[in-house]
Amino acid sequence: MQINEVVLVDAVRTAFGRAGEKGIFWKTRAEDLAVPLLKALIERNPQVSPNIIEDSIWGVTNQVKEQAGTLGRMVTMLADWGWEIPGCSIDRMCASGLTAIGFAATTIASGMADCLIAGGVEHLGHVPMGFMREHHPRAEEVMGGASALVMGQTAENIHDRFPEFTREMADAYAAESQKKAEHAMTSGRMKHMIIPIETELADGTRIIADTDQHPRPGTTVEKLATLKPVFQENGRVTAGNASGLNDGACAMMMMSRTKADELGLTPKMRWVASAVAGVDPKIMGTAPVPSTEKVLKMTGLTMNDMDIVEINEAFAVQVLYFLDRFGLAWNDPRVNIWGGALAYGHPLAASGPRLVAFLNGLFEENPSARYGLTTMCVGRGQGVSTIWENLMAS
Ligand SMILES: CC(C)(COP(=O)(O)OP(=O)(O)OC[C@H]1O[C@@H](n2cnc3c(N)ncnc32)[C@H](O)[C@@H]1OP(=O)(O)O)[C@@H](O)C(=O)NCCC(=O)NCCS
Repeated sequence: MQINEVVLVDAVRTAFGRAGEKGIFWKTRAEDLAVPLLKALIERNPQVSPNIIEDSIWGVTNQVKEQAGTLGRMVTMLADWGWEIPGCSIDRMCASGLTAIGFAATTIASGMADCLIAGGVEHLGHVPMGFMREHHPRAEEVMGGASALVMGQTAENIHDRFPEFTREMADAYAAESQKKAEHAMTSGRMKHMIIPIETELADGTRIIADTDQHPRPGTTVEKLATLKPVFQENGRVTAGNASGLNDGACAMMMMSRTKADELGLTPKMRWVASAVAGVDPKIMGTAPVPSTEKVLKMTGLTMNDMDIVEINEAFAVQVLYFLDRFGLAWNDPRVNIWGGALAYGHPLAASGPRLVAFLNGLFEENPSARYGLTTMCVGRGQGVSTIWENLMAS
C-alpha cells in the first residue's frame, strides 16, 4: 500500500483550567471547549472549508455525561458544519488524544483520507477521573494489585522500585517545570495557540479564558518540600510533583502533503511514526520508555536525533525514570522547554495534543531542530510515542 506523507497544518487549544468550582470552565461544557477550536481552525486557515474535512477524531477518556454520545461527531454539528462531517471519540485514557492523532495520521498515510481533525478534550470538573467506572471483578488480579488502579499510587510504586529517584529529585524537577512554564507564559509563547473563550465563573463573573490557570509562578523547591504526600503515608508524591486535575481541549488539522500543497497551505511538521507499548500497570509511568524505543527502532532514529522532546509530566518521578533510561540529564535542555503538565495541569485526553501543539510551537522558534518526540504514559500500563519532523527547519 502506498504511504502518503502526513502533515500538521495547524494546532490550537483552550487555556487549561482547574477542575472544580474555582475553575475557569466550571460553567462551560466539554463540547463547548472543543467547538471554538474547530471554528478557529477554519478561521485561521480560510483555504479550508469544513466540507473537505473527512472525520473529526477526538480523544475523550471518560465517555459519560456530557462527554458521552460520540462527542467527536456532536462537536462538528455544534460547530454548525452541517450533517456531512463525521466524527468519533476514542479512549486510551491519558493518551486518548495522542491516539486520535496517531489514528488520523495512519488514516491519511494509507490514503483513506486527505483532511482530518484530531484532538482531545477532558472536563475533569464535570466528569471526574474514573467517574461511574465499574471495575471487572478480576481487574485487580489481572493488573497485579489494587495500586494499579490509583495513578498516584503507581507513581509511588516507581519510587519504591527505583529508590534512586528521590522525593528531592522529583521536587527539583517540578520546580524547574514551573519555572520554564512561567518563562514561556510571561514571554507570550502561548498566545498563538490559545483560542480565547468567553466563560462564566461560579460567581457569575464573565471572563475571557485565555491564560492557563494551573501554573504556580514562583514555585520553589523549598516550598515543594513542605507539601504532604497525598497517596501514601510516608510517600513521595505530592500536589507539587504530580500533575493536576484540569479542564481543557486541544485540536489540530492534519492533511496529506498533497492536499496541503493543493490548498496552498504551509504545513508545519510531518508525522514520522507512532508506537504503543504495554508494561506492568502498577508502574504505568515507565511505559514511555518501551514505546519510545519501539518508535525509534521503527524509524531508524536514535534519541540523539531528537532535537526536542515533549513528555507528559503525569508525575515527576515518571519523567525522571524516562530521562535516566535514555541517558539524559534530569534538566536536559531539549526536554519540555516550555514546562509540562506539572505546571499546566493534565486534562487527560487533551494533554497528548497539547504536547504536539507545544512541539509545533517549539519547532517554529527553533528552525535548526529537525526531529521531535511526543510521548506519554497511560493508566492500565501503556505508553504512546510519536516522532515528528520539522518542516519549518532551515
Ligand atoms: C495530587 C492531587 C490529589 C492534588 O489535588 P489538590 O489537593 O486539589 O491540589 P491543589 O493544586 O489544590 O494543591 C493542594 C495544595 O498544595 C499546595 N501546592 C500545590 N502545588 C504547589 C506548588 N507548585 N507550589 C506551592 N504549593 C503548591 C498548595 O498549598 C495547594 O493549596 P492551595 O490551592 O490552597 O494553595 C491531584 O492534583 C491529583 O490527583 N493529581 C493526579 C492526577 C492524575 O492522577 N492524573 C492522571 C495521571 S496518569
